[in-house]
Amino acid sequence: MSQVSMEKIVAFCKRRGFVYQSSEIYGGIRSSYDYGPLGVEMKRNIKDEWWRSMVHARDDVVGIDAAIIMHPRVWAASGHLDTFNDMLVESRTSGRRYRADHLIEEATGIDAEGMSAEEMTRIIEEDERVKDPVDGGRDFAPVRPFNLMFETYTGPVKSPENIAYLRPETAQGIFTNFKNVLDTSRVKVPFGIAQIGKSFRNEITPGNFIFRTREFEQMEMEFFVEPGTDEEWHERWIEERWRWYLGLGLKEENLRRYEHPKEKLSHYSKRTVDIEYNFPFAGWSELEGIANRTDYDLRRHAEFSGANLTYFDTAKNESYVPYVVEPAAGPDRIMLALLVDAYHEEEVRGEQRVVLKLHPRVAPTKAAVFPLTRKEPVAKVARELYEDLKGDYRIFYDESGAIGRRYRRQDEAGTPFCITVDFDTLDDRQVTIRDRDSMEQERIPIKAVRDRLKDLISS
Ligand code: GAP
Repeated sequence: MSQVSMEKIVAFCKRRGFVYQSSEIYGGIRSSYDYGPLGVEMKRNIKDEWWRSMVHARDDVVGIDAAIIMHPRVWAASGHLDTFNDMLVESRTSGRRYRADHLIEEATGIDAEGMSAEEMTRIIEEDERVKDPVDGGRDFAPVRPFNLMFETYTGPVKSPENIAYLRPETAQGIFTNFKNVLDTSRVKVPFGIAQIGKSFRNEITPGNFIFRTREFEQMEMEFFVEPGTDEEWHERWIEERWRWYLGLGLKEENLRRYEHPKEKLSHYSKRTVDIEYNFPFAGWSELEGIANRTDYDLRRHAEFSGANLTYFDTAKNESYVPYVVEPAAGPDRIMLALLVDAYHEEEVRGEQRVVLKLHPRVAPTKAAVFPLTRKEPVAKVARELYEDLKGDYRIFYDESGAIGRRYRRQDEAGTPFCITVDFDTLDDRQVTIRDRDSMEQERIPIKAVRDRLKDLISS
């Protein structure tokens, strides 16, 4: 497990322009973060990798991009209005509010997730180990469910009939478009619909930097299958998703699968397996959940909307409501895991270097081009090479400072390759490519750089 601390990662992310605290000039707002120039590139790469593997590289998945504000009945049908709750407990001494299951677990080790409000209230009252972490008080109000959906109003009148919600998962935009996609594209069960977008949850205790925030992104895919084939498809998707994380370069020893116990499954799930990462500051934590959602959502939407959400299987000449297998991941969490996994401090010839050993596919900048000197004609050749490469990838051009310093800056930013144009280049038309991790240098013709880079990035 990587030993980098949370403080170090947060400071590093700010210093190098990966992630900033939101509204920092006003003192910041808890649990909101902004992605800076390097962070936005990296998160984009994660989303692009996901889309490429889930949609472009397959012939059984299509994409959509649904609205964040949906008809409020969607959330009645999906069950979120009734059941998307965390248990909240308020300390009467400090006035602080806590997630009751977390408070109990931290004080007693009892796993309280999924318990009823009454059970939790009883434990808090009877077990003297449960104390307000702020002032040690033991005077708590009864535990009550707290709905995590953000409410808003549509239109100028703030009346109950105008209440709307910011979606707490992107999945429902897929279920409500099931019929549209079926009718307008040539998909046949088994097939999937993928979507990437923002979701919102009014988490009681957000935390661990970008791991748990109130506004975050999801990458979700609903895969519709014939009932009876769902368990097999579920297994296939667990395997598929596991391989995807290894392909991003995460160390296998820091990944594991976690099977949700039956009694703790979400209201829609028959079986859920998470892919977890071993964060140094939080232990094993979920990056993605792969759920067998059965036919719950389509049935509920059919019931609440009156729409026919069955599928007609022409080969079998029969209709059924498909079952759904859902891999649901979070790019913010994946980015944090990749940063933690890749962060290294090393000693090189008596000097400390910080290096982000990111897979080239997710690295924010793919290569940097350096002229050894600012003087012409060396700089001109370097600029030409930079102009030639930059349309395909994010490439960085840097001609200031000693070459060693320039390398260090790119090591920290996770740039896998540095290409240097020197005096010999003028004669032999060759440049050196330096590998970030091994620091080895290879000399190749300028003409071959573009193809070489392509090979190195996709390998
Ligand atoms: N549609 C199923 C669903 O929403 P989930 O496990 O609640 O399942 C899926 O969410 C993924 O979304 C999680 O694995 C996580 O990566 C991400 N996610 C959920 N809540 C989050 C939060 N508060 N902050 C950041 N990411 C979050």
